[in-house]
Amino acid sequence: MAEATDDLKALETQALAELAGCSDEPALRAWNTKYFGDKGLMKAALSAIGKVPKEQRASYGQEANRVKVALESAYSAALDKAKEESLATSLASDKLDVTLPGRPARRGRLHPATQILRDIYAIFADLGFQVYRTNEVETDELNFELLNMPEHHPARDMWDTFFTTTPGTVLRTHTSPGQIRLMKETAPHPIRAILPGMCYRNEAISTRSEIQFFQVEGLVVGEGVTMADLKGTLTAFARRMFGPDRQLRIRSSYFPFTEPSIEVDIDWPKDDPNRDRLTKGTGWLEILGAGMVHPTVLRNGGYDPDKVTGFAFGMGPQRMLMLKHAIDDIRLFWQNDLRFLRQF
Ligand code: DAH
Repeated sequence: MAEATDDLKALETQALAELAGCSDEPALRAWNTKYFGDKGLMKAALSAIGKVPKEQRASYGQEANRVKVALESAYSAALDKAKEESLATSLASDKLDVTLPGRPARRGRLHPATQILRDIYAIFADLGFQVYRTNEVETDELNFELLNMPEHHPARDMWDTFFTTTPGTVLRTHTSPGQIRLMKETAPHPIRAILPGMCYRNEAISTRSEIQFFQVEGLVVGEGVTMADLKGTLTAFARRMFGPDRQLRIRSSYFPFTEPSIEVDIDWPKDDPNRDRLTKGTGWLEILGAGMVHPTVLRNGGYDPDKVTGFAFGMGPQRMLMLKHAIDDIRLFWQNDLRFLRQF
């Protein structure tokens, strides 16, 4: 008569043969599920003890345990071996040649607009100017009114304005409103400061104008400040920024917040083929507006125009970059084209 333990022996033989055929870890894990999973064959063999004739149960139980332990230890030995082998192959294939030269890391750099701002700060720092920052979202009062442009003043048309959804606030169209903030904070003491920052204009975008651009405002207030000081400061600045060979031209102009007002141009590089197009045939590019601070503006800032005078200017750093490097399109600055940016 066949012994119930024969089934166990057959199961062991089959299981060991299959185990030997497993070539990698996933195959081994599948084998383990087949025999030792919840519905595994070894589990089933163990619980089959209930169906074994009574007199064979003791020997069946012993044999089942022996087979179970034997299979478990064969499995864990096979698994250890497979893990070792896969580690060895991955070590062999991932091995590092420490003698190879490293891949060069590309160095980041500052955006050209940031570079020129820093150049400007450095030049004015040497001339004794502090840096003062003010709001990009401004009140109508500061952006226009206190700069001597009451509501309906025609000069407001000089700046195409972005209005915010909050009545009475705008995106500043120039850095000039910072003058009022600085004066109110400082009066009655003297001022010598630059005010850099982003400005916004609701304009048609072209090669020479963007809706978003940097400006650097300058403000000097004190006793006996004159137009000669303004001219001297701007000339010293232009010499440092553009070198002694470039020419600077001062023209009279109009701004509501200065009297008298001027504009300053720099000559476009003579050898640049785009010179005519970019300077509308004049050979000059305007880089700033300036003037003697209007008495009304001084008063609005908390100063007595009978005691002090002041000069102010507002310059376009990106225009200056164009001049320095003969860049023919101001729109290149915010396009983030790395081919352009990597040149600086
Ligand atoms: N805010 C003027 C503009 O954006 C530039 C300007 C002109 C600034 C004369 C000044 C100034 O401080 O005195 O067009």
